Formats: sequence, structure tokens, C-alpha cells
Amino acid sequence: MSPIPSSMSAVIQKFDGYSNTATGPVIENAADWLEAAQIPVPKPGPGQVLIRLRTASVNPSDIHFIKGEYGQPRIKGMPAGFEGCGDVVATGTGAEALQDQRVAFVAAGSGAWAEYIVTQAQMCIPLRPEISDEDGAAQIVNPLTAMAMVDIAQGAGNAFVLSAATSQLGKLMCSLGRDLGLNPIAMVRRAETAETLKELGAAEVLATTDTDMMSKFAKVSAELKPRVFLDAVADQISEQVFCAMPNVARWVCYGKLSTELPKLTQMGQLIFMNKRIEGFWLTQWMMSTPPADQMRVVGEVQARFADGRWKTDVSERLALKDVVPNLATALKKSDGKVIITP
Ligand SMILES: NC(=O)c1ccc[n+]([C@@H]2O[C@H](COP(=O)([O-])OP(=O)(O)OC[C@H]3O[C@@H](n4cnc5c(N)ncnc54)[C@H](OP(=O)(O)O)[C@@H]3O)[C@@H](O)[C@H]2O)c1
Repeated sequence: MSPIPSSMSAVIQKFDGYSNTATGPVIENAADWLEAAQIPVPKPGPGQVLIRLRTASVNPSDIHFIKGEYGQPRIKGMPAGFEGCGDVVATGTGAEALQDQRVAFVAAGSGAWAEYIVTQAQMCIPLRPEISDEDGAAQIVNPLTAMAMVDIAQGAGNAFVLSAATSQLGKLMCSLGRDLGLNPIAMVRRAETAETLKELGAAEVLATTDTDMMSKFAKVSAELKPRVFLDAVADQISEQVFCAMPNVARWVCYGKLSTELPKLTQMGQLIFMNKRIEGFWLTQWMMSTPPADQMRVVGEVQARFADGRWKTDVSERLALKDVVPNLATALKKSDGKVIITP
């Protein structure tokens, strides 16, 4: 194995803290938020590992984060990126068991968009050999969220509604829902994606661009009685869908892809129909779910990727040196993840 250098290439953040804006996970020019730099390779402390990057994914949360619009503050000069796959090349005390393992990781000490990353050993999952580096780069955030949220739906009837169903997470939830015997009711912006989503497992696909969508949804809702709405968009259409769902329905907001702030129009639904509006954040789920349950979910996630029931669609691959000039254009492609390589 090649020696660990003292400095590395990285894509670092230009700003600290929060921005107090709500402009959504879109960028026109990555250079507004990020710059390429040579920085020292971090050293793992107790309980930490140093990972040599193979692949990192670009999720909407990464874009919210670099813009200062996420649930934790930015650190100027720190590499961006939450999630990736790589080889453990050094360990701090207590983390020796991971030495030389190929792992999927969440970057909890320094960012993933760098040649080397320091993170906590608990944030690493050793990967089965059948799992590709690209699936490894998107093995934690979306798959664990899909498992946790479809579990919420499974406890509440035979059907659930999901928005932004063409997203990577939406596709994972459609197929998981179908495999569990549920009826996923998928909302999309692009009507032409309906057939693909049905093949993946959606029982019904409704296009938000269809002017007749709400009456179609009312029919589907009366028939399938979905009681959970897993919503990554959170706009006024979401509010209308929630209002059209049966009593005891839960609107679980887990993403903010739209910059529109929805207005609540029927407060009586919360009072008289026992409906609820709530949030879901994987970080909270990880803090509140017992480790044994998390390990069971991680095992199921890897099994699904290993046997091909789940895969990561890749729209573009970018070398670290190309991230700042090319990320904004790469993100404009709709069908899959941008994957970063060293
Ligand atoms: N709370 C949590 O713990 C958690 C964890 C993981 C992910 N998430 C959230 O889950 C969502 C999906 O993540 P992902 O990685 O699967 O996304 P992704 O693969 O990058 O896909 C996002 C897709 O959403 C659609 N979209 C974008 N803006 C939209 C808008 N304003 N209205 C409707 N649809 C829109 C687009 O598809 P079309 O062009 O086909 O419409 C886009 O391709 C994100 O909001 C992310 O932040 C939350």
C-alpha cells in the first residue's frame, strides 16, 4: 500500500456557520461556495480512522450544507461532502479492527470530498465484496433513510404516498415498499418517468404537473387509504395531498427540495381527523435507534445491494479537481447521483 502523504487535494468550504437563507439544494456555480485546495492530511484520533477515498456521492444534503442551509454549521476550510467509500489506511486507538478494510462511511471529522477523510469508527460500515465502489458511496444516507421511513409506513396500513419519487431515495422506497407488500403512491414532476417507477414498484404514479392530479389523487386515496406521506418536497401541493388523505394520516417531511413555503389551509384536520405533521432526520434516527437494530438494517441494506434489488443510478462522474468547475452542470442531469473520485 502506498505511503500516506502529508498533504492532499480537497474541495473545501468557503464559509462558516449558517447563512439564514432558504434557497434549496441547487447551485449555479460551485465556486460561490467551494474552492479546490491542497491541505494537510488529517490524523485519526482515538476511536477514529483515516480513509483513502475511492468514491463520494453528492446528495441534496451536501448542497444544502455548503450553502449554510442544513442542520449543522459549516466550517470554513473544511472539505465538503458527507458520504463516501474508501479504504481505512490508519486508525486511532480503539479503531484498529477497521485497518485495511474497504468501508462505506459518513464523514464526521472532515469532509468526504478529499483524497483522505478522518471519521469516527462508528460511522464506517465494512463493505461486502459484491458491493461496487459506486454503490458503496451511497450506502448509508439514502438506504438507511429508506429503510427507516418505509418502516414508518409499514406500521400504518397497506399504502403510502411519496413525493420526488424519481430521486434515488424515492426509487429505493418504491421497490422496498413493493417487496414488503405495500402500495407506494408515487408523486413525480416528470410524467414520462411513470413506467420506470411502476417497474420499480410504484402502485400508482401521479404527475404534479397534471392539472387533474388532485382529483386523481382523491380517487387513489379513497381506494388505497394511505396513512403516511413521505415528503421530500414540502410545497403547497404536498399540503393539498395531506388534506386529501384519510383520517389519522401523517405528513412526514424529510426534505425541502422546494423553496416554496406551504400554507396550512385546514387546521381542523389536525383537530378533528387526528392528522399529524412531523419531520424525519436520519441523524436523529441514528441517535435514537439501538445499535443492534441499526446493524440489522445495515445488513438488510447490504443484502439488497449485493443481490441487485437496489442499485445506485449514476448520472456523472467527476474527479476531485473537476468538482468546482463542473459540479453545477453535472447536477442539472436528473437521473442519478454525481459520483466524485480522487
Ligand atoms: N431527512 C433525512 O434524513 C434525509 C436523508 C436522505 C435524504 N433526504 C432528502 O431526500 C430527498 C431526496 O434525496 P436523494 O439523494 O434521493 O435525491 P436525488 O437522487 O438527488 O434526487 C432529487 C430529485 O428530486 C426531484 N426534485 C428536485 N427538486 C424538486 C422540486 N422542487 N420539486 C419536486 N421534485 C424535485 C428531481 O427529480 P425530477 O427532476 O425527476 O423531478 C431530483 O432529481 C432530498 O430532499 C434529501 O435532502 C433526507
